Amino acid sequence: MAINSPLATQVLMISLVFASTLPAAGWCAESVKPNVFIAATGGTIAGTQANVEQHGYTAGQLGVASLIAAVPQLKDIAAVTGEQVMNIPSQDMNDAAWLKLARRLEELEHSAGLDGIVVTHGTDTMEETSMFVALTVDTPKPIVFTGSMRPATAVSADGPMNLYNAVAVAGSAAARSCGVMVAFNDQIHSARYVYKTNTTRPDAFQSVDRGPIGTVDTGQVDIFGVCAAGTASPAPKVPIADIHELPKVEIIYAYAGMGRDLIDAAVHAGAKGLVIAGVGDGNITNEALAGLRDARAKGTVIVRSTRVVSGFTLRNAEVNDDTEGFVASSEFKPSKARVVLQIALLKTSSLSEIQKYFDTW
Ligand code: DGL
Repeated sequence: MAINSPLATQVLMISLVFASTLPAAGWCAESVKPNVFIAATGGTIAGTQANVEQHGYTAGQLGVASLIAAVPQLKDIAAVTGEQVMNIPSQDMNDAAWLKLARRLEELEHSAGLDGIVVTHGTDTMEETSMFVALTVDTPKPIVFTGSMRPATAVSADGPMNLYNAVAVAGSAAARSCGVMVAFNDQIHSARYVYKTNTTRPDAFQSVDRGPIGTVDTGQVDIFGVCAAGTASPAPKVPIADIHELPKVEIIYAYAGMGRDLIDAAVHAGAKGLVIAGVGDGNITNEALAGLRDARAKGTVIVRSTRVVSGFTLRNAEVNDDTEGFVASSEFKPSKARVVLQIALLKTSSLSEIQKYFDTW
């Protein structure tokens, strides 16, 4: 068709009118939103209180549909679906709940059409559950834990923005190599490094030794590039399909004048491993040390960690781990050191191998 023919002129005019209706950015269909799945487990984010004057509240009251409905802006950033995997306060988390959640997450990780997963969870044990998931679930898609420090009915509830930001992170391409994270109070933390450090405040979650791996400000995700350095581990250390029960591992808190009774009792109760929340750099009294030596002689694996909120527990500081046959927890504080030891004991009883896991996982 000659460009100067009447028909060609009409086609050109129609094309120009149509093109002028497109967004300034040029030809594009409505931007495709990521598909994000919310696996709800309970906690304060789903909590309610009788009235705002009360400090008290009940966790695990609202279902996932209520959580999603409370944040209508979610539909602007993602196509969100979800399910109630369980609805409990997270102080009630246990091995069976962990196995159930991890198996469901593994299924979701391998379901087509999903871009990321959010887990809403109580804050009391979020540091432990997220660590367990990081060590046992394959994570080609990011898994982002979140919750709230204030119940949904509180003045300035923090749950809605935490949920909005967690969905933004889960749907973000930048987070795809980051494995399991915690998004809380506008920060993004690796599940390996984050701990609850305050009983009530919205900024309770802190990566005490390394800091956050990113920020998320009203949905704007900024990963600091640390993920590329390997905080993620796409392959699980022990696949959840191979786990049917977890070894019994206890944590014992050290203090001035500590005796050996709790150590003896834990071993008698069948503990396969003990994590010591030691004073200072993982230290204990001589009487408690005698108890640990007897426990070690019976085959119990001993991990020296610390009750101190930050800093690493390295080998052969004031306690000679080589002589005692102990493991040092490296940067894992007791709550995570217990999870690491449970998973390590599923793989080996070799102390050198277990120490390597604490140093590298
Ligand atoms: N019961 C606590 C829990 O479910 C409430 C703490 C919270 O979720 O913020 O972990």
